[in-house]
Amino acid sequence: MNQPTPVDLERFARLLGSQVVAARKIARGYTPAERWVVSLADGRSAFCKVGANQNTADWLHKERAVYEGLRAQGASFLPELLGFDPDPSRPILALEDLSGASWPPPWTPERVEAVRATLDQVHALRLPVPAIGFMGEAFEGWSQVGADPGPFLGLGLAGEGWLEGALPTLLAAQEEVSLAGEALLHLDVRSDNLCLRDGRALLIDWNHACLGNPEVDLGFWLPSLAAEGGPLPDAVLPDRGPLAALISGFFAARAGLPVIPHAPRVREIQQVQLAVALPWAARALGLPPLGDLAR
Ligand SMILES: Nc1ncnc2c1ncn2[C@@H]1O[C@H](COP(=O)(O)OP(=O)(O)OP(=O)(O)O)[C@@H](O)[C@H]1O
Ligand SMILES: [Mg+2]
Repeated sequence: MNQPTPVDLERFARLLGSQVVAARKIARGYTPAERWVVSLADGRSAFCKVGANQNTADWLHKERAVYEGLRAQGASFLPELLGFDPDPSRPILALEDLSGASWPPPWTPERVEAVRATLDQVHALRLPVPAIGFMGEAFEGWSQVGADPGPFLGLGLAGEGWLEGALPTLLAAQEEVSLAGEALLHLDVRSDNLCLRDGRALLIDWNHACLGNPEVDLGFWLPSLAAEGGPLPDAVLPDRGPLAALISGFFAARAGLPVIPHAPRVREIQQVQLAVALPWAARALGLPPLGDLAR
């Protein structure tokens, strides 16, 4: 659908206090949530995200809690929350329209620095645990690959011989990363979830926020950053073998799995991230280069 339904248009108007005169669909993003930039009769505009299934509905409720919690702390690295309609099956989160900001790529050293500066601010904050929880334990990717190597090997990034030789090192290294911490993490830092305005980076899409080890948050951004022409992960975080193992394992365990029907582009971006994260892990852990053993 290229326009919101009449019912949704009416709900946007009620939430924002003005009739919608135009709506533009936003196709970016990886979930089935529906996203619109709406122009209002009173001259304002807004970004509206609508929960479209149980997952995206639950995530919107969480996002709202994060926006409210961060705003209460005076955080300025996120858009204004303009309103929230808590309908259980189709909640709406209305945010300040950031269409006029710059959305990377391209990456420049200044833009990379701006994101790092914003992440430092995020990581210095805390939010109440009942609202967001601690980082989960879903980071044992290499154990999953070891138990069922087919999907990973099917990607053609590494051969069976490489995996057999590297797996013990990767398994041990991923265990060395402590997920524990009290820092607020965004945990979905990627160019489709951030933009730059007046030289500062703003973060959107807060549904994965949690408390934990801030280096994991920074580390998960790095594969997509390099894939988009930014610096290599090891240039940003040198000598991080365990972190590179954890991150490459996360993508290695997922990128080769069947396409998710309601989020069909997720596997693609995971493959892109893995193609950077795997050589990063190989370099950082002194494993044989993949090129030699990908046959
Ligand atoms: N406030 C905003 N103003 C303008 N455009 C936005 C805004 N927020 C998001 N967008 C655009 O919409 C895209 C998707 O938004 P977002 O990341 O919030 O949704 P999503 O990835 O589908 O999220 P979720 O994982 O919560 O379902 C962004 O990549 C960006 O292009
Ligand atoms: Mg997003």
